[in-house]
Amino acid sequence: MAQVCVVGAGYVGLTTASCLAQIGHTVIGIDVDSAKIEALNKGMIPIVEDGLESITQQMLATRRLTFQLGYSETISSCEFIFLCVPTPQDEDGSADLTYIREAAKSLSPYLASKSVIVNKSTVPVGSTLVVEEIVRRDDIFVVSNPEFLREGSAVHDFLHPDRIVVGSSNKQAAQRVADLYQSIDAPVIICDPASAETIKYAANAFLATKLSFANAIAALCEHVGANIDDVMEGIGQDKRIGNQFLKPGPGWGGSCFPKDTRALVKIAESAGYDFELLRGVIDFNEIQFDRIVNKVRNAVGGNLTGKQIAVLGLTFKAYTNDLRDSPALRIVEQLKLQGATINAYDPTVANPLPQTNFCATSIDACASADAILIATEWPEFALLNPTAIGKIVRSKHMIDARNILDADLWKSAGFTYQGVGR
Ligand code: UDX
Ligand code: UDX
Repeated sequence: MAQVCVVGAGYVGLTTASCLAQIGHTVIGIDVDSAKIEALNKGMIPIVEDGLESITQQMLATRRLTFQLGYSETISSCEFIFLCVPTPQDEDGSADLTYIREAAKSLSPYLASKSVIVNKSTVPVGSTLVVEEIVRRDDIFVVSNPEFLREGSAVHDFLHPDRIVVGSSNKQAAQRVADLYQSIDAPVIICDPASAETIKYAANAFLATKLSFANAIAALCEHVGANIDDVMEGIGQDKRIGNQFLKPGPGWGGSCFPKDTRALVKIAESAGYDFELLRGVIDFNEIQFDRIVNKVRNAVGGNLTGKQIAVLGLTFKAYTNDLRDSPALRIVEQLKLQGATINAYDPTVANPLPQTNFCATSIDACASADAILIATEWPEFALLNPTAIGKIVRSKHMIDARNILDADLWKSAGFTYQGVGR
C-alpha cells in the first residue's frame, strides 16, 4: 500500500483520491479551492456522482483519505503524485496546460527522491515531457495514466475499468504505477508516453464519431421511413460494432468530448496531419443541435417568436449535475435567439440560467407550453402522463430528443411526437 497525493479534487481528482483510498492506499487530496477543501473534509461533496459521497466519507473516517488546501511538506511523504487539474480549451481549440505547469512548479520543492508524478489529466501528446522539463530532476519520474471515467458512473468506471493505460519512458516507474491498481481486475497496457496520451484522445474521438454516426443514421431513417431503434438493434448486435454508444440524441456534449475532439484536431494540425474525418464529426455535432431546434420550430408552425417552450433536462446527460458544454444549453440558446420563451426544469440544477424561466417541477415547466422538448434522458421524464400533460399545455407537441418516451402513448393522447430517427 502506497502513500499517494492527488492534486485537483474535481470529478476526476475526487473520484481518483477516494477510490485509491478504497483499494488500500493512503491518500492526500489537494485543491486550491478553499471552500471545496473545507466541505470535503466534512464529507460533503459538491458533485452528483453515484456512490462517491459514501466512499469519500468512509475513507475520511478511516483516515486513509485527507484533504488539504494547497501544497506543503506533506507531499514529500508521498511516493506517487497524481495530477487531475483542468486542461481547458484555448481559443484555438488546443488544450491549455497552464494548470498542469502551475501544479508541476508548485509540487517541485516537495518531491521526495524516486517519487512518480502521474498525469491523469487529459493532456496533448508530449505533455509528459513538459512536466519533466519543469521538474528537471533525474530522480523524479513522470508517467501518463489517462482516465476513462464517465460522469455519473465514475466510481464504477474507476473500480471496474476496461483497461488501465500507463505510459512512461521508464519501465520500472510504469510498473510501479501499474502496481497501484493490483487489486483491480483489468488488462494493463504499458507503453510509451506519447502512445498513452494518444490513447485517451483517440478513445474519446472514436466514441464521439460513433455517436455522430448514430445521429446521422437517425437522420437517414427520418428520410427513408426506417425505425432507428430497430436499426441500432440490428447493427449493435454485430460484435465488431457493439451496442453501446449507439443511442441517438441531441448531439454529444460534456466536459470532455467537445474539448478533447477539438484538441485532437489541433494536436494533429501542429504535427502536420489534417484530421479531416474528426473535423467532420465535430461539424456534424453542431448540425445535430440545429436539427433539434428545427424540429421544435416546425412543431409550432415554423416561427418561434412568442412561443413558450418547455425544456425538460439541462445537464449534458442524465445522472450528473454537470452543465459543461451541454447540448441542452446549446439548443436553449438557439431557441431563445429565434424568439422563444423557455420554461426549463432539471432535477439536479438549482441555479436559474440567464433569460430562462427555471421551474421547480416538470409539470410547472409544461404549463401553457406551445411545445415540450426532452433534452436530457432523466428517467422521471419517461413517467410523465401524456393525458395529464395534455390538459395543461397550450398546444400538444412533443419533441423527444432522447427517444425515451412511448411514442404511441403520446400520440394516442393527441400529441404530435417527434423523436430522433423515429
Ligand atoms: C479535469 C480536466 O478538466 C480533464 O481534462 C482531465 O481529464 C481531468 O481533470 P474534471 O475533474 O472534470 O477534469 O475538472 P474539474 O471538475 O474542473 O476539477 C478540477 C479541480 O482542480 C477543481 O477542483 C479545481 O479547483 C482544481 N485545481 C484547478 C487545482 O487544484 N489546481 C489548479 O491549479 C487548478
Ligand atoms: C466521456 C467518456 O465516455 C469517458 O470515457 C471519458 O473519460 C470522459 O468523457 P462523459 O463526458 O462523462 O465521459 O460522457 P459520456 O457518457 O461519454 O457521454 C458523452 C455525450 O454523449 C453526452 O452528451 C451523452 O448524452 C452523449 N451520448 C452518450 C449519446 O448521445 N448517446 C449515447 O449512446 C451515449
